[in-house]
Amino acid sequence: MRIILLGAPGAGKGTQAQFLMNKFGIPQISTGDMLRAAIKAGTELGLAAKQVMDAGQLVSDDIIIGLVKERIAEPDCAKGFLLDGFPRTIPQAEAMDAHGIAIDHVIEFDVPDDVIVERMAGRRVHPASGRVYHVVYNPPKVEGKDNETGEELVIRADDTEDTVRKRLAIYHDQTKPLVDFYRTAADAGKTRYHHLDGTQKVDAIASQLTDLLA
Ligand code: AP5
Ligand code: ZN
Repeated sequence: MRIILLGAPGAGKGTQAQFLMNKFGIPQISTGDMLRAAIKAGTELGLAAKQVMDAGQLVSDDIIIGLVKERIAEPDCAKGFLLDGFPRTIPQAEAMDAHGIAIDHVIEFDVPDDVIVERMAGRRVHPASGRVYHVVYNPPKVEGKDNETGEELVIRADDTEDTVRKRLAIYHDQTKPLVDFYRTAADAGKTRYHHLDGTQKVDAIASQLTDLLA
């Protein structure tokens, strides 16, 4: 099963990707996590991406498309995958089509900007696994520690209110057009499109996903 998780920064893509990954046994491909891993490793890609990400801008389509193409070719993606944070521009979506990569489900998480700003202020992440927490809405069992490993949780460098607002503006400008792109694709029978109210509780969204992907 090949799934695209579509939604604004902080809409809950990474949170539900963890749930779906465990449920369906398919890998999460988070371009954001891949870029953050490159920054941590100090690679050339990481050095180039860091400034762009910290400013809340998008990394260039060519770089991102290359990353995803390589990742999708790995053996663990043969059964399917969850795309989290990709595509987020029309050229990125067109590149998928150009490479003949068909998508079974596109799931849109709809969350108003003000709710997102509040969510980001309380987000804590475990970089090695991609697990995501919130100090109030999805707290870890032990404060500041990852549930599985007990390792320290961190605050993402781009989660300041200023940068979140910039990322939201870019979302509305460059990524939101994908809603129409994939609705049109669904009307033509190329994929299935699902719109979800992303303001519901984490568990309620997970059970809705279970129903619609059954
Ligand atoms: P990326 O890492 O993809 O960030 P994003 O899209 O901005 O999304 P987030 O990870 O911020 O949010 P999310 O939807 O995963 O929400 P989460 O589940 O964590 O990208 C970062 C940067 O990398 C970009 O700005 C760009 O520079 C670059 N980049 C990445 N991909 C790119 C691409 N394709 N092209 C170009 N550049 C790219 O949840 C957020 C918080 O809310 C958490 O605290 C969580 O616990 C909480 N929460 C989740 N669900 C709920 C709920 N239902 N109720 C209450 N709280 C909830
Ligand atoms: Zn995420």
